[in-house]
Amino acid sequence: MSTKTLRWLGILFPVLFWASVIALRTYLAPYTTAVLEATIEVLLVAGAGALFSNWVATRFERHDAEIDQRVQQTEALRQAALALTAEVDLSQVLQRVVDLSRQLSQARYAALGVLDADGGHIEQFITSGVTPEERGTMGDPPQGHGLLGAILTERRPMRVDVIQNDPRSAGFPANHPPMKTLLGVSLISKGQILGNLYLTDKFDSTGSGPLPFTEQDQNVVEMFAAHASVAIENARLYQQNQQIAIMQERERFGMNLHDGVIQSIYAMGLLLDDAHHRADAEPALAKARIGQTVQGLNEVIRDIRAYIMGLRPQRFQGRSLAEGMDELARTFSANAGMTVDLAVDAKAAARATTHQAVELLHITQEALANIQKHANADLVHVTFVRTGGRLCLAIDDNGKGFDVFRAAASSQGHGLRNMQERVRALDGELEIESESSKGTRIMLSLPVAPRPIVNKPAAPEPAPAALVACVDTPTAHTPAENQ
Ligand SMILES: Nc1ncnc2c1ncn2[C@@H]1O[C@H](COP(=O)(O)OP(=O)(O)OP(=O)(O)O)[C@@H](O)[C@H]1O
Ligand SMILES: [Mg+2]
Repeated sequence: MSTKTLRWLGILFPVLFWASVIALRTYLAPYTTAVLEATIEVLLVAGAGALFSNWVATRFERHDAEIDQRVQQTEALRQAALALTAEVDLSQVLQRVVDLSRQLSQARYAALGVLDADGGHIEQFITSGVTPEERGTMGDPPQGHGLLGAILTERRPMRVDVIQNDPRSAGFPANHPPMKTLLGVSLISKGQILGNLYLTDKFDSTGSGPLPFTEQDQNVVEMFAAHASVAIENARLYQQNQQIAIMQERERFGMNLHDGVIQSIYAMGLLLDDAHHRADAEPALAKARIGQTVQGLNEVIRDIRAYIMGLRPQRFQGRSLAEGMDELARTFSANAGMTVDLAVDAKAAARATTHQAVELLHITQEALANIQKHANADLVHVTFVRTGGRLCLAIDDNGKGFDVFRAAASSQGHGLRNMQERVRALDGELEIESESSKGTRIMLSLPVAPRPIVNKPAAPEPAPAALVACVDTPTAHTPAENQ
């Protein structure tokens, strides 16, 4: 029912009622009520009815208008919160928060003061409603004095009807647009203030100057601030993840460059050195070495091309673990003046995934290169077995040994660190034992990956054995055995 109908009914019902009373009275006691008297009575009742129904209808209208406004603001809030989820870039999110809060509160100007990590100072000041030129003439962003500082220290929402009259106000700097009314709300995430939203001069459609912000405006902006805090926190996390991903990519690049290209070039150097020494006495062998070097250099060029294209290095790709181990043992035995004794369990090697195989070959290559460069060993045992649910690799040399802790703390090299990183990424465990003038043992174990295609229910894998189980395998060699 419309309020217009309500107004008419508010007059009509009392009048009809009073007219019936007069009719009844006239019927029961004829000639006691004069026509003039009855007319006055009806008019009085009509007037009272009109006043009352108007009062009720006006209250209804006000209430309706309030509900309408709330519905509109809630819808605007929903839209604003939705719009925030569309962005992940931090600077875009911050700008959107300011623009949307201005729209939502119908403010002429809005600003967001983003706080530094300590939460004590404004680190970034993002505005809306001010043109870049106007912003340029205003000088440095505010430092958080006056009312902006008061919001920071009081840590609760603030509504000010006349900024200039507030004792906490420090006045505006030169070229600052005049502002009168203010609503300030904090953005809080996990109990920490991320920043403050400052909204000024609520727009007035009648043009009679800015309106004060209402409690309802404050409620809506506070609700929006909660959404905005989540969006800002998400955007920050996204940015951090991007940075971590870039760092990991760089690390991976460096690791592959070290273990792939640098080691290959080092091996090439040794081949050429060998060729140089044999050039006079064994020219045919020296020629063969040079041929091997050229082939190796071509492989290095292929590797570098693969890195540039962001692909994984070619080294060891497409080779099975057993083939790769064989190749490494032959190369190092032939060129490094040491015997590499290989004991690879073919069944265990077949259980390594392609990725595990490539990583294990990189690790073995680095371990052999280290023995060649630093150990002064003449015998190396490489053992690969499966123990329970783990694949175990052990590389023993009978060289001079080294101080593992000191090397980890002070070495400029990348080899051992890369080894550790590769094992960690494969969910494995690595241990290095070394004893002066006895030799070094590198042991690692990786979980056996489940078979990809299973037609019948597989027998459950035994519980992962501890690393020590690998170490104690009968095929593993201890440095003492190597003496
Ligand atoms: N089998 C080993 N025998 C003796 N010393 C070793 C052995 N393996 C490593 N080391 C010592 O540990 C140090 C660190 O090795 P790492 O592979 O990290 O670096 P690097 O070989 O010196 O340099 P890079 O690998 O970057 O070319 C070596 O400098 C060496 O002193
Ligand atoms: Mg090394």
